Amino acid sequence: MATKLRGRSFLCLKDFTREELEEFIFQAEKMKTDHYAGKDEKFLDGKTVAVLFEKPSTRTRISFAVAIHELGALPLVLETSNMQLIRGETITDTAKVLERYVHGIVARVYEHRTLKELAANASIPVINALSDYSHPCQALGDFLTIKEKKGTLKGVKLAYVGDGNNVANSLLIGGSILGLDVSIASPKGYEPSKEVVEIANSFAKFSNSRIFITNDPYEAVKDADVIYTDVWASMGQEAEHEKRVEIFRPYQINSELLKHAKVDVIVMHCLPAHRGEEITDEVLDGPHSVVFDQAENRLHIQKAILALLI
Ligand code: CP
Ligand code: NVA
Repeated sequence: MATKLRGRSFLCLKDFTREELEEFIFQAEKMKTDHYAGKDEKFLDGKTVAVLFEKPSTRTRISFAVAIHELGALPLVLETSNMQLIRGETITDTAKVLERYVHGIVARVYEHRTLKELAANASIPVINALSDYSHPCQALGDFLTIKEKKGTLKGVKLAYVGDGNNVANSLLIGGSILGLDVSIASPKGYEPSKEVVEIANSFAKFSNSRIFITNDPYEAVKDADVIYTDVWASMGQEAEHEKRVEIFRPYQINSELLKHAKVDVIVMHCLPAHRGEEITDEVLDGPHSVVFDQAENRLHIQKAILALLI
């Protein structure tokens, strides 16, 4: 695949222009169509991609392994707890060794700076499979899903209700680049960081989109086309879980909240869901929910990301 994206890392959506993000989505749509026609193209034939995990994963682990396989490459799915990293080998040395063996590194890490260190020390693309700061593969796959369901991204109102976390950051940044209106409702003290909101506002000026941060979930979802939520305690925040459940209770996605959005609103969740906490069974399993289409699209978008970068 001829592309000016070749060789670049994929750490944060802010590193890409609107045209580049649209190119990933366009290629994913094409690959999805080809996949259903039984015509997967082996863009990475004979290559090898390492997929590293510091944290648990179901969707990312499996969708990346399948994506790499369907592109004709070998996925090496590794737990960092089984690597010499656990015994003190540095990230820098690990990156320098990996680039001698593989053609790309996908990594899920606790600290975003680990990804930056991998990318700075490897001459091959490094792809962020979730960090404490962002989850760009998730968000880009979500924009593919929104485009499929709503026919466009421009002017779509996406309301995220919950923790101002990694997923919220990527939706804010990606949404502001791609021209969606993004509103976020979080409890006081759990809003996205000032830095991320500033980045989103600066992109929004160019794309003519609107960014709105509030503590009121009803205000955020008013006339929304998309309502999105994520867990209240992310991986690594398990000790805060009980405290957070109390604080976040008014931010649950339930049938009452849905009434304030557009009648054809779609409900999204990156999964895994804590049913009965951030979202009720009724909504997650109800007619507005697109969560499993959303999970499937991780596969198609990641194939596009891998094929364009590697
Ligand atoms: N949404 C997501 O990244 O899921 P996993 O944690 O299961 O990979
Ligand atoms: N915010 C969640 C997303 C999981 C896919 C976490 O980081 O645990």
